[in-house]
Amino acid sequence: MIEQFAENVDLGLSKSEKTLPSKYFYDKNGDELFVEIMNMPEYYLTRCEMEIFTSQTDALIESFQADKNEYFELIELGAGDGSKTRKLLAALSEKGYQFEYLPVDISQNALDQLQLSLQQHLPQVSVVPKHGDYFDMLGSVKDSHHPKIVLFLGSNIGNMTDAIASDFLYQLGANLNTNDKLLLGTDLIKSADIVLPAYNDEAGITSSFNLNLLHRMNTELGADFDPDGFAHAPEYNENEGIAKSYLLSNKQQTVEIAAIGKTYDFRAGEKIHTEISRKYNDNVLANILAKTDFTVSAKFTDKNNYFADYLLNRN
Ligand code: AVI
Repeated sequence: MIEQFAENVDLGLSKSEKTLPSKYFYDKNGDELFVEIMNMPEYYLTRCEMEIFTSQTDALIESFQADKNEYFELIELGAGDGSKTRKLLAALSEKGYQFEYLPVDISQNALDQLQLSLQQHLPQVSVVPKHGDYFDMLGSVKDSHHPKIVLFLGSNIGNMTDAIASDFLYQLGANLNTNDKLLLGTDLIKSADIVLPAYNDEAGITSSFNLNLLHRMNTELGADFDPDGFAHAPEYNENEGIAKSYLLSNKQQTVEIAAIGKTYDFRAGEKIHTEISRKYNDNVLANILAKTDFTVSAKFTDKNNYFADYLLNRN
């Protein structure tokens, strides 16, 4: 794990336009900060998707076209704290569906907390947590031949480039069977005055989340980053529809990373690109799905039309 982290960091910081993978945001501290982000007034995404799950639970369940007499697997990729899914799990079990919930997450800590909380609040639901990267999990999904409903919520897909998202959905489809379903949560393209504050909150929580990458490299890779030497710098352009997060070096500096045995130079004003948060519309999704086995069979939006959960059918 550490070797891969070091390898990814070296690769990203050796580029002429420096990058770091956003998946490394999520250690224990990053998980906690992300929970805070989801509760921030500026971060509308979670509230909007929660509204869809709360106000359209029955319609969502109907769109799954599940048979009450046939056991199915409800797989959630990147389950996090599972707060939205809870509504669905409660309603599915109340309606008498036979299913097992398989939350997949890169954070063991998030999975442990989710399992504990579900044991307390929904003991009737059988939960089988799976720890790992979504990509690594795709293969293990194939092992079972039960019907599957995959949840990929929270606009997690937005943290992938379109090419990676397309490849990911292609791979996911290849591991599913005909008529399996994917419920895909996507933040919709809208103006900068709504999107940008979600990534640049007043309280500075997103800034701490972004800077956590530097703390992680210091503790896990023996780096000597001065976190005060970098600032959180998000950007968003409505035409492109992609929010981008950067760490901006506010001085000329050299950082040593002991685990890699190398030093890296940063110019004053140089940026490290740490994350993309792609925003969607029907066309963006259609282009991404073009080379996959999925087609859109329903779309659920919140009342402001900020967020959409698309129900995709595996053809
Ligand atoms: C997890 N993901 C969908 C979040 C997003 O909106 O891109 C991560 C995040 N980054 C900054 N704020 C939230």
